[in-house]
Amino acid sequence: MAVTYRPAVLDDAELAADLMTAAYPCLPSDLVMVRYRWQNPRQGYEVGRFVAERDGDPIAFLAWLHGPWAELPDRHCEVEVWLDRARLDVGLLVEMWSWIESQAVAQDSHLLLAYSGEDEPEMLEALASLGYQRERAAKLWELDLSQHGARLVAEAKAAREQMDGGGIRLLTVAEWRDGDKLRKLYELNERTVQDVPHSLPIVTEAFEDFEKRIHSPDRRDDRWWIACDGDRPVAMSYLKFPPVRGTVWTGYTCAAREYRGRGIARAVKLQTLAQATELGVPTVRTDNDAENAPMLHINETLGYVRRPGWVEHHKRVKTSSA
Ligand SMILES: CC(C)(COP(=O)(O)OP(=O)(O)OC[C@H]1O[C@@H](n2cnc3c(N)ncnc32)[C@H](O)[C@@H]1OP(=O)(O)O)[C@@H](O)C(=O)NCCC(=O)NCCS
Repeated sequence: MAVTYRPAVLDDAELAADLMTAAYPCLPSDLVMVRYRWQNPRQGYEVGRFVAERDGDPIAFLAWLHGPWAELPDRHCEVEVWLDRARLDVGLLVEMWSWIESQAVAQDSHLLLAYSGEDEPEMLEALASLGYQRERAAKLWELDLSQHGARLVAEAKAAREQMDGGGIRLLTVAEWRDGDKLRKLYELNERTVQDVPHSLPIVTEAFEDFEKRIHSPDRRDDRWWIACDGDRPVAMSYLKFPPVRGTVWTGYTCAAREYRGRGIARAVKLQTLAQATELGVPTVRTDNDAENAPMLHINETLGYVRRPGWVEHHKRVKTSSA
C-alpha cells in the first residue's frame, strides 16, 4: 500500500522521538527534548514536520527547517528523513527524500542540506541517487568514563590548580556571582560560534532564544563550566544530560580568540568530564567538524575513541540569482 504523509502536531513529538530512535538506534532521541524543541522554535525560523504512514502505521518522521530568508542569501533549508530501520529500503528512502525535497522547494529554498550517518549505506545511496553531494564530515567520539574516569578526575584537579596559578578561575555558572552573566556568556557564544568550521552561514541567535536553549531540560547551571579572567568569561564547556533516554553529550566547548592555545578549553572541558564521572555517567559523546584540528586534538588526548560520524550533503535546487 502507498505511503501517506500527514503534518505532525505537538502531540506527535513523542512518536517522532520514537521514530527517530527506530531510524538510528545507536543515538536515541529524547522525547522530552524533542517536545521542548518543538515548543520553542528559534525566532524567524520556519519548519514543516510530517509523519509518514503505511497501512495506518507510522513508519517515518520527515521535516524541513530553515532560518529567516532575510539573513540567508543562500536560502538553505535542512531536510530530514527518519525511516524506521525495520522498514529500511533504498526505494522507499528515495521516495521519502523526494517528497520532503518537494516540500522544501515549495518554501522557495535554493539549497538543501541533508545529514546521514557514515554507517548508513542505504541512506548514502538514496541521497547520492538524488544528486546530493558530500560537503563536510563530522567526527563522532565516545569516552568511556568507567575506564578513564579516575585519570580524568585527577587531570581536572591538576588543570584547575594550573589555571588558578595563571589567574584563570574555573567554576560553574551556578557558582558565578555576576549580575550580567547570561549576557556575557551569550556574547562569548556568539563570537566563538562563527569560528566553528562551516560551509553555510551561521545565523545570529537572539538572546531570548539563547536563554531558552540554556534552560533546556537537559542542561543545568551547576553542570555548565566556565573559565573566567576577572569578571570576563573566556571559555566554556557543558554536557547535555537527556532527561529520559540517550547518551550524555558535550553541548559546546569554546575559548575566546585572545585566550586560545593556553590549554583553557581543555581544562574547562575536563571539569565537565570529572563531574560526569562523579555522577556515575558511564560514557559521554561529542562530535566535531573533521576540520576542527584543535578540538579533535583535545578529544584525542582526553581518551575519546572514534565512532561512525556524519556526512553533510548539499543539493542545489535553484540558483540564488533565479
Ligand atoms: C576549539 C577551541 C575550543 C580550542 O580552544 P583552545 O583554548 O585553543 O584549546 P586548548 O589550548 O585547550 O587546546 C588546543 C590544543 O590543540 C592543539 N592545536 C591547535 N591547533 C592545532 C592544529 N592545527 N592541529 C593540531 N593540534 C592543534 C594545541 O597545540 C593544543 O594542544 P596541546 O595542549 O596538546 O598543545 C577554540 O579554537 C574555539 O573556541 N573554537 C571555536 C569553537 C569551536 O570550534 N568549538 C568546538 C565545537 S565542536
